[in-house]
Amino acid sequence: MNIQLINKKAFDAKNNITLKLITPERLKKAKFKKTLKKAGFSAEQDTLCAMHGKSLLFAGIEDHDAENLKTAAASVAKALKKYDYKSLSVDVNKENIASLIEGFILGGYEFNNYKSKAKKQKIKNIYLTCENVEELTALFEEAVIISEATCFTRDIVNTAPDDMYPEVMAKLAKKLANENNLECNILGKKELKREKCNAMLAVGRASRHDSKLIHLAYKPKNAKKIISLVGKGLTYDSGGLSLKPATSMVTMKMDKAGACAVLGIIKAVSELKLDIEVHAFVGAVENMIGGDAYKPDDVLVSRKGDTIEVRNTDAEGRLVLADVLDYAQDKTKPDYLFDFATLTGACMVALGQYTTGVMGHSSKLKHDLGKASKKAGELTATLPFNKHLKKQLKSEIADICNISNKPYGGAITAGLFLDNFIKEENKNKWLHFDIAGSAYTESPWDVNVHGGTGAGVRFMTQFLKNIK
Ligand code: BES
Ligand code: ZN
Ligand code: ZN
Repeated sequence: MNIQLINKKAFDAKNNITLKLITPERLKKAKFKKTLKKAGFSAEQDTLCAMHGKSLLFAGIEDHDAENLKTAAASVAKALKKYDYKSLSVDVNKENIASLIEGFILGGYEFNNYKSKAKKQKIKNIYLTCENVEELTALFEEAVIISEATCFTRDIVNTAPDDMYPEVMAKLAKKLANENNLECNILGKKELKREKCNAMLAVGRASRHDSKLIHLAYKPKNAKKIISLVGKGLTYDSGGLSLKPATSMVTMKMDKAGACAVLGIIKAVSELKLDIEVHAFVGAVENMIGGDAYKPDDVLVSRKGDTIEVRNTDAEGRLVLADVLDYAQDKTKPDYLFDFATLTGACMVALGQYTTGVMGHSSKLKHDLGKASKKAGELTATLPFNKHLKKQLKSEIADICNISNKPYGGAITAGLFLDNFIKEENKNKWLHFDIAGSAYTESPWDVNVHGGTGAGVRFMTQFLKNIK
């Protein structure tokens, strides 16, 4: 599907259906109100009514709020798949253009790589018509870049684990670096050993696929700030020897969603040409079982030098992140440090499936991030650290334990485990995002369809756009 911004006067397409967004209030005065009423259409949010004789499609919206426009556009994108028109056109303005683009692209997203017979969609073009193309061009391009970066993230998340293991992810990162002029450095087993990333290496040891630490950098001239992003890239999480139950293991290809988000964000930032320096660090690892697997009772010496008592091999993401966060803090002196991880089931228990958990020390940073996510239309909520929960990670035999000794507060104790690896000078620059719930879905919601959602890409790009 191709989206174009064109001058309304010059617009003339055959076999086109025109979309009208309409509120219940506006419907009362609409030209075709009687016909629409007969069809049972009352302009309720996310409902549609087509008048094929007139080549018109009506989409109900509660009001012109950005989120309502987005989900209405998403329902249109889904409906279009069945239609026999060649194109759809809709009037846009500077208030609605970004929401409509996001809705069309994200709501119309499909992942068909594993379908032997790909469905053919008739609609090839969406025309956004207006009278002031020049004025809207920047908004148009920005929304397309952000939406496509989100789909890029979704594609990687949705790829099956045996097609997207650490080496493949490293190759994909290299390709992105070539296309977008990024610096790229990949650390394999040998380099990871030299870097003493023993915690990360232990997690990947039983896999037939070697672990990779991927570092991409976008360095424009005169960058105003430096931002380091870190992503959990478990290309598969079987749980390791603390094996997951069969039903919990299904969908664990999504345990790389943090890494995929970080790749999507650096793609968006470099295409938007933001004047900030952005580093993306990814720990790409597969957590498997076997004779060489790391075990509960093992004590790992992290890159930082702290010893970690392993009591559950399924709490592996934090082990990988401990080393990658430490490496990232040595390689860069960031103004902001953000990590993205599908870290805990407990985060979903606390916040539900739709909301990203935000943790960190700086109230201001959490507040600013909250504002950015609201603007971007992603749900986030903060989970507060406290000193009592920190004690739950105490180990009798090592410096820290990889799981809590109590069954409550699991998302926060995981965040506090990461906090142990954040250097003093970075404490107030750091936020941890637990995207365990928000990164993947098996039923559609908002602008999301089955599979990866691209969680983090939109709110982080929004945050980075505002950096002064
Ligand atoms: N990748 C999982 C977390 C997860 C669970 C993500 C469900 C998405 C959906 C993580 O590695 C994990 O297994 N965490 C454990 C931690 C526990 C052993 C302390 C969990 O949440 O159960
Ligand atoms: Zn796990
Ligand atoms: Zn995991």
